[in-house]
Amino acid sequence: MRLRKWDGARLMQLDEILLDMDIKQLRKTLLDWYRVSRRDFPWRHTRDPFRIWVSEVMLQQTRTETVLRYYEPFLEKFPDVNKLAEADEQQVLKAWEGLGYYRRARGLHAGAKDIAERFHGKMPQSMEELLRVSGIGMYTAGAVASIAYGEAVPAVDGNAVRVFSRLTGYDACVDTTVSRKLMQALGEKMVDPDLPGDWNQAIMDLGACICRNGQPDCAACPVLSLCRSGGTSMSCVLPIRAQKKEKPVEYYDVLLCFSPDHRYVAVRQRTENLLGGLWTFPMIKREGNQEDEHVAGMPAQMPEGGRSLGHARHVFTHLIWEMNIVECSLAEDQVRVSREELEQLPFPSAMKKALALCRGLMK
Ligand code: ADE
Repeated sequence: MRLRKWDGARLMQLDEILLDMDIKQLRKTLLDWYRVSRRDFPWRHTRDPFRIWVSEVMLQQTRTETVLRYYEPFLEKFPDVNKLAEADEQQVLKAWEGLGYYRRARGLHAGAKDIAERFHGKMPQSMEELLRVSGIGMYTAGAVASIAYGEAVPAVDGNAVRVFSRLTGYDACVDTTVSRKLMQALGEKMVDPDLPGDWNQAIMDLGACICRNGQPDCAACPVLSLCRSGGTSMSCVLPIRAQKKEKPVEYYDVLLCFSPDHRYVAVRQRTENLLGGLWTFPMIKREGNQEDEHVAGMPAQMPEGGRSLGHARHVFTHLIWEMNIVECSLAEDQVRVSREELEQLPFPSAMKKALALCRGLMK
């Protein structure tokens, strides 16, 4: 299929599409459908901006069924923005454990701290102000402002882009800066001025239940008669996405290493790492044929007597880990010692030279 280029001039065309699209009818039909078909979620029973913010962050790249298991327990621990701001990052990461994409948890926590410090602990009251908070972007600000405050702003995420591109027959790649701006502009034009929160959530439900990724269920669509690609083969083709790059694969030995008193060795990952702030077993990265690259806190050598328990694979959004799980015991002669204890051990001069270099770093 030859793709058209949607540039500045095409923006005009989009306006034209909208002119003959009968947006009022679209809003009414979709909102009527939402009133009877809406999915029931706990975050739809509140207008509390903090609770809505938490739900929107959790729902990014995560299925609603999964979020349902985390949402209320998280809010029991952190019932308002100030409680979250005061919390230790480890507590926040613990409450997020298993939900994945921990950058979101760290971002939410940083945002709460920012609100506590710069907004006197009060959730910002508009999209414009929400956008000033560290880590809050267009989608989240739009979702919170429309759902909590009834501000007439769109919440354009991947689902909304899919729905909009099919509705309008937009057949250029949606993963370009021009397209992103265009979809945001389209969202602004279409959002219902009276019920923007319901409108945005109706688009989410339509995208999740009917206008699904891959195979849309056009026969069940309430706005089929208003859709430019509905019921045609184009509905399965749209939206046009940039070709996905293959995910790089990283290989690790993961050491389930326990000490003589049967305690596991655990390592806290640095904040700039993928799992920053979380605890892992020591891991040795294998780079093809190169030498082992040693990462945070692991023993300098594979302990003797290690035995492989098998393989595990974990797929992240942008990369894959292939893990060789190795069980090993920390020998009696590998211990963690304080500076004072070190002074009591027989220690060769060569190592004293090494130690001299970190005087002041190590107390
Ligand atoms: N996905 C993102 N936000 C959502 C919401 N408010 N309800 C259901 N699914 C969503």
